Amino acid sequence: MYKTLSVAKDTWWVGVNDYETDLFESLWPLPQGVAYNAYVISAGKTVAVDTVKGSRFDDYIDKVLSVLDGRPLDYLVVNHMEPDHSGVISCLKRTYPDLQLIGNAKTVPLLKEYHGIVEGVIQVKDGENLDIGGHLLTFYTIPMVHWPESMVTFDGTTRTLFSNDAFGGYGAHEGGIFDDEKPRERWEGEMLRYYSTIVARYSGMVQTALKKLSGLDIANIYPAHGTLFRHDIRQVIELYDRWSKQETESGVVVAYGSMYGNTRRMAEAVCRGVAEGGVKNLRLYDAARADTSLILSDIWRYKGLVLLGCTYNTLLFPALDALCTKLVNRMPKKRVLGIGGSYSWSKGALDALRAFADTVKLEKIGPEVEVFAAPTEADLEQCVELGRNMAKAVL
Ligand SMILES: Cc1cc2nc3c(=O)[nH]c(=O)nc-3n(C[C@H](O)[C@H](O)[C@H](O)COP(=O)(O)O)c2cc1C
Ligand SMILES: [Fe+2]
Ligand SMILES: [Fe+2]
Repeated sequence: MYKTLSVAKDTWWVGVNDYETDLFESLWPLPQGVAYNAYVISAGKTVAVDTVKGSRFDDYIDKVLSVLDGRPLDYLVVNHMEPDHSGVISCLKRTYPDLQLIGNAKTVPLLKEYHGIVEGVIQVKDGENLDIGGHLLTFYTIPMVHWPESMVTFDGTTRTLFSNDAFGGYGAHEGGIFDDEKPRERWEGEMLRYYSTIVARYSGMVQTALKKLSGLDIANIYPAHGTLFRHDIRQVIELYDRWSKQETESGVVVAYGSMYGNTRRMAEAVCRGVAEGGVKNLRLYDAARADTSLILSDIWRYKGLVLLGCTYNTLLFPALDALCTKLVNRMPKKRVLGIGGSYSWSKGALDALRAFADTVKLEKIGPEVEVFAAPTEADLEQCVELGRNMAKAVL
């Protein structure tokens, strides 16, 4: 977005679009870019809520200066210390030497280590208020959503929750910035992709945070990435509740790792069985080529997961192994899992998938299929049966 936008009484969006970063956290593709949403409240006192990635200070400060129109900046609320929101703190402090930083007990050591800042830091407790003249701000810690110091700020006057990474999504702002300015399918997929890659591991802590904030009378949820919600905040709270409770839709994701196509034929046979079983929500992914963040999104959305891998130098094919590692890290629950492998001499892939299944403790659906070199008709029929059983388990 090329300019500041008024987003509530006395409140401006001063964030930036980032189209240059190709991988978020050097991991997750950004085909539609990403936005760092930051805000300024210009009331009795002037307050910035979060900032932007370090490399974007010029764009950010231009917007802050235009909103403040000659006034100094009194406070910066540091909801989160990850550098995509706190990278410009040192520069901002040099611009406004009297700036006071607001954080919680977990923020303070990080401010010192990242920026060498110890002076002018106000440490707030969970639920503490700050009257900024015409607006009352309240700070709530939401530990491990998704860092220890993560916090949200509620402006009781405009009933706006500045939620930082919570409720965030990938994707830069096009013309629209609010939920009522774009179709739901334009933001929901990128929000789920953000959830499944960044937040999913901490789903239990998300539930704790949702309960803590449930008593607030919220009109707007303004996150630090992606769409600003002012039209219907219930729909995003419901999504977050569902994703963090790990409630799924009936559907099956089949992901495979294959070098010469034999394991892919197994995967296709499983898919045929899933379709015969009446499941339309079916996603087939080549783990070596598909964007892992899309695979993770669909795994978070659907109840069924089938993983099929060939053996590579005694182990599970690397791309599928990498997917398994990312899944273990996110601790998926309440899903059903089918597995299968292929080999030509020592075996290895299916054993690795069995170990994965033991680790994630998902309910297993059989049969397990193990194929020697190329699948026979009988092998493929077993794969179809696995697909049919998956369909039964998810419908
Ligand atoms: C580079 C390479 C390494 C392999 N390593 C093993 C192995 O350690 N043990 C084994 O049983 N098979 C191994 N295989 C054989 C494959 O797992 C087997 O041919 C399988 O059917 C390949 O499935 P695909 O056609 O889906 O790639 C290897 C194959 C290749 C090309
Ligand atoms: Fe973050
Ligand atoms: Fe972030």
